Amino acid sequence: MEALVKPFSRERLPRHIAIIMDGNGRWAKNRFLPRTAGHHAGVGSVRKAIEYCGSIGVEALTLFAFSSENWRRPQQEVSVLMGLFLATLERETEKLHKNNVRLRVIGDRMAFAAELQEKIAAAESLTSVNTGLNVTIAANYGGRWEITEAVRRVARQVADGHLDPDAMTTEVFASHLNLADLPDPDLFIRTGGEKRISNFLLWQLAYTELYFTDTLWPDFNEAKLEEAIKDYSGRQRRFGYTGEQVETLFVNTGPL
Ligand code: IPE
Ligand code: IPE
Ligand code: MG
Repeated sequence: MEALVKPFSRERLPRHIAIIMDGNGRWAKNRFLPRTAGHHAGVGSVRKAIEYCGSIGVEALTLFAFSSENWRRPQQEVSVLMGLFLATLERETEKLHKNNVRLRVIGDRMAFAAELQEKIAAAESLTSVNTGLNVTIAANYGGRWEITEAVRRVARQVADGHLDPDAMTTEVFASHLNLADLPDPDLFIRTGGEKRISNFLLWQLAYTELYFTDTLWPDFNEAKLEEAIKDYSGRQRRFGYTGEQVETLFVNTGPL
């Protein structure tokens, strides 16, 4: 672990990494195991990603664990995933807290069993004042759902006379979304070989650098994450400027 720490200069390090953890089912299938064995194995990669990001000084790690469309899967698989979420929270929360991690969950949690909802709330409240890595788990999450919820809140404020529609700006709107206190993801990683966003952070990914790897999530480890960050650190982010402007005026993490 130690040898991998801090290979990046500060301005080349992403502040916020968002990951679609895909490929568990295929990992299991390759081994003639049930798909759920892949989900179990994937928990190890979650642990590695959190520890590695914490150790190199990344500020935020957002992990897509269960999409609002994943309910379409066989009932048995859904229930294993829910059980795994609960068991992992029970087993890991204390350790995350000791490591100064602030844990939050985004997504429509009302669809979860009462016990899971309680465990989520307890983990969030225990770790809420921590100042280390911000870990966000997206569970029963969908980007369109999130934007729709924000629109609903804004519409209510307008209807109640608390907001003038003309005062609406992208910044005001973004403040109604999840993760409003964090910078937008600098680096998006999708494992498992598919090249799509699958309804992940639709708004927040507007200027994120995208990185796709064929590695299946249970095989994704510190070295693979380091590879992704290295790839990111060699890119020039332009945010609409020309390359020349960026070279003379800005550091690579975006406008100063
Ligand atoms: C990602 O792995 C985990 C979840 C979506 C919960 P998959 O289960 O989608 O794995 P593949 O894509 O079928 O291999
Ligand atoms: C996206 O993976 C959601 C998660 C990793 C939780 P999927 O496997 O559900 O995505 P699609 O269906 O291939 O787009
Ligand atoms: Mg998949």
